[in-house]
This record gives sequence, C-alpha cells and structure tokens, in this order.
Amino acid sequence: MTGTVHETAGQEQVPQFPGVRAVRCPFDPPPGLRALQESGPLTKVRLWDGSTPWFVTRHAEQKALLSHPKVSADVTRPGYPIHTPAAGGGSLSFILMDDPEHARLRRMVQGAFTVRRVEGMRPAVQRIVDDLIDELLAGPKPVDLVEAFALPVPSLVICELLGVPYADHGFFQDNSKTIIKRSVTPEDRAVAFGRLYEYLDGLVGEKLADPADDLLSKVAARVRDGELTRQEAAQMGVLLLIAGHETTANMIALGTLALLQNPAQLALLRDSDDPKLVAGAVEELLRYLNITHSGRRRVALEDIEIAGQVIRAGEGIIMPNDIGNRDPGVFPDPDRLDVRRDARRHVAFGFGVHQCLGQPLARVELQVVYGTLYRRIPTLAAAVPIEEIPFKHDGQVYGVYELPVTW
Ligand code: HEM
Repeated sequence: MTGTVHETAGQEQVPQFPGVRAVRCPFDPPPGLRALQESGPLTKVRLWDGSTPWFVTRHAEQKALLSHPKVSADVTRPGYPIHTPAAGGGSLSFILMDDPEHARLRRMVQGAFTVRRVEGMRPAVQRIVDDLIDELLAGPKPVDLVEAFALPVPSLVICELLGVPYADHGFFQDNSKTIIKRSVTPEDRAVAFGRLYEYLDGLVGEKLADPADDLLSKVAARVRDGELTRQEAAQMGVLLLIAGHETTANMIALGTLALLQNPAQLALLRDSDDPKLVAGAVEELLRYLNITHSGRRRVALEDIEIAGQVIRAGEGIIMPNDIGNRDPGVFPDPDRLDVRRDARRHVAFGFGVHQCLGQPLARVELQVVYGTLYRRIPTLAAAVPIEEIPFKHDGQVYGVYELPVTW
C-alpha cells in the first residue's frame, strides 16, 4: 500500500489511503497509519515538496535505522525529508549533525543531564510544582493549565539549570513556539531563530564576563578555553532552551487531558503512593501520546538493506514514532492507555546516538508532576468539552494550545 503524507505548510500531517476514514482520536496516530503498518514495515510516501522518502512504521525497523551508522541526521544533505520550506533554516546545533561533530558537542553538556545529576534536582522540581499548585489553588477558576502550570514547570527548571532569567519566559516561549510551528514561513522562522540566537549569544557573553554556577557558564568557559566557538555555544543554548521546555510542557498538558479522558487510569495514579507506578505511568504516557509526532527524519548515506527492501544512498527516511509506539508486536493492545503496562521500550525519546539528551530531566519533571497534581487537586476536571480544546495539529511537537480546567 502506498500513501501520501500531506505536509503542506499549515496543514495537519494525515496520510490518506483509499477506503480509510480520516476520523481522528486526538491521542491516536492518524487513522491511515495502522493500515500502513499492517501492510509492512516500510513503504514510500509523497511529501509536500513532491519528494518520496521511505516511511518506516514498525518499532524494530525504526530502532534499527535510528541506530544505523550510515543514516544521517544532517538536515542540509540532499534527500533529507524536511517538514516544510522553513524547516531547513537556522542551525539547531547537534540535534541535526552527525558524528564526530555531533558527539563532540553533545559531550560538552551531557554531564548536566546524567541520572545522578538530575536526581539531585528532584527536590527543587518538587518545590516548583508545589508552589505553582499553591498559586493555582489560590487563584480564580477556570484557569488555563498550559499557561498557569504546564509551561512554567519546565521553563523554570531549564532556566535554573542553564542560568537563563525566568523573567524572559514570555520572549523565549513565544519565539520557540514560532520555530516549531509547521505552518511557519521561512521568513518568520528566521526572525524567531535570530532573536533567540542573539539572546543566547548575549547570555554567553555575560557568563564569560561574570560566570555563575550554571550550565551556560560552563559552556562559556569552553569558549574561553578555545574548545567551542561563540556561535556553537549560542546555537547549543538555543537547542537546550527550546528542547528543555516545549516538549515537557506538552507532555504535562496533553498527559493531563488524556488522564481526564481515562478516569480509571487517573484514579490508579492518584490513589497510589508507589513511585514505581508513577514512573511506569510516565513511560506509558510518553508511549501513548508521542508528542514528537512528526517523526524522526534522516537520510541514507549508503545503500541499506532492511526488511527485504533497499534504501538507496541519498534517499530520505521518516520514522514516525507515534505508530512505532503503537506496534502491537511490541505493545499488546497498543491503542489502550494502561499505566500499569511495561512501556519502557517506547521510542518517544528516539533511539541511537541522538536519543534525547534531556530524558532523565523530563522523567523527573513528569514523575513529580503526575505524582503530585492529581493528588493535590483530586477534583481536577476539564472546564470545556474536548471538542473545544485546540490541539497542536500544526506543530512539530504535539499537544494542546490551551487546557481550561477547574476543580
Ligand atoms: C517529554 C519530554 C521530551 C521528549 C518527548 C523529547 C523527545 C526527544 C526526541 C524524540 C529526541 C530525538 C531527536 C532525533 O532523534 O532526531 C530528542 C533529542 C533531544 N532532546 Fe529531548 N525530549 C524531551 C525533553 C527534553 C528536555 C527536558 C531536554 C533538556 C534540554 C531535551 C533535550 C534534547 C536534546 C539536546 C536532544 C538532541 C540530542 C542529540 O541530538 O544528541 N529534551 N528529544
């Protein structure tokens, strides 16, 4: 079976296949993907620009290709399947580079994201979450959970870790939102990227002159020692700032909505004081929701034989983790949210050398949030019907723009 992935700027990515009704549950992959997965592990699709990359729908082949040494993440290579005309502009540091450059840059910051280091931040994350819930409870209702809670939690945490003033959150949140919007024009994306780049470059300059105990100061020290250029440092800052707040914020809001739609699952989480259950629920919600729904994008550097097909050198590859994480061969009854299942093999953080650097931090944030919010506000409820909630079908990161809640 072949299909077309419609990715015209501003439109939702919905593969269309003959005979498949395009009815969409907001937490499920687009309807055509299941049929495609059943028909085989990989096929070709047509993108907005007429290109025909490979589309890999099964978990095993996704992992094999994500960890394949002859598969490149370099967005500037011919054949790379870009999301929109705007997606190629503005370097987002090592996430779009190959080794050895990727490894050189990643190594410079990975010490800040080890499990041990991040576990040390758990009490601070708990304090941030508790304070924000105190403010929620003291304020008016209904309230938008995205604005009042989901965005501030990871923004406060990443600001603290990097040494970025939280007072600037409106500025960096707005520009990040523009950069990851699928409908953005190349011009608007370049402007937003330029603003964030200048902002981070300015901060690196400040840390050079007046170092503090934060990650940007450590990055600035590498610039001073000649290990890193100022441009590389600022680009890395942009990547860490965007990746550090947008993703987790979407998981908090969308995860809450998914749980409100599945009250029995929410009750399990709310009524348990077992940290293992909470940690398992985080993995299951990551698997089930797949907020990085545009899929991992790559291009083959050499011919690669896989699952009876040959991906030729220079051909693009898309690995949509949303359907990879709903592979029934790995996760039985995959469309069911089940916080007690073992979901640890999910690919929501990617796989291979680009696997999410911030995953230990994201896990701690989500464990604290999911383990606290519903216990402290047991009557939490959506304040509008689900049909009125605006979903980010047009974003490279999926979620909700707003989530009005009450209690
Ligand atoms: C629930 C939250 C998160 C999700 C679902 C998520 C997802 C992902 C995914 C799928 C990738 C792989 C990209 C690829 O292979 O092309 C990635 C990479 C990355 N993530 Fe996350 N992420 C999250 C939170 C964070 C946080 C809190 C940070 C902190 C700064 C972060 C920093 C990064 C970085 C720097 C990379 C690039 C790694 C590399 O290329 O070596 N992420 N993330």
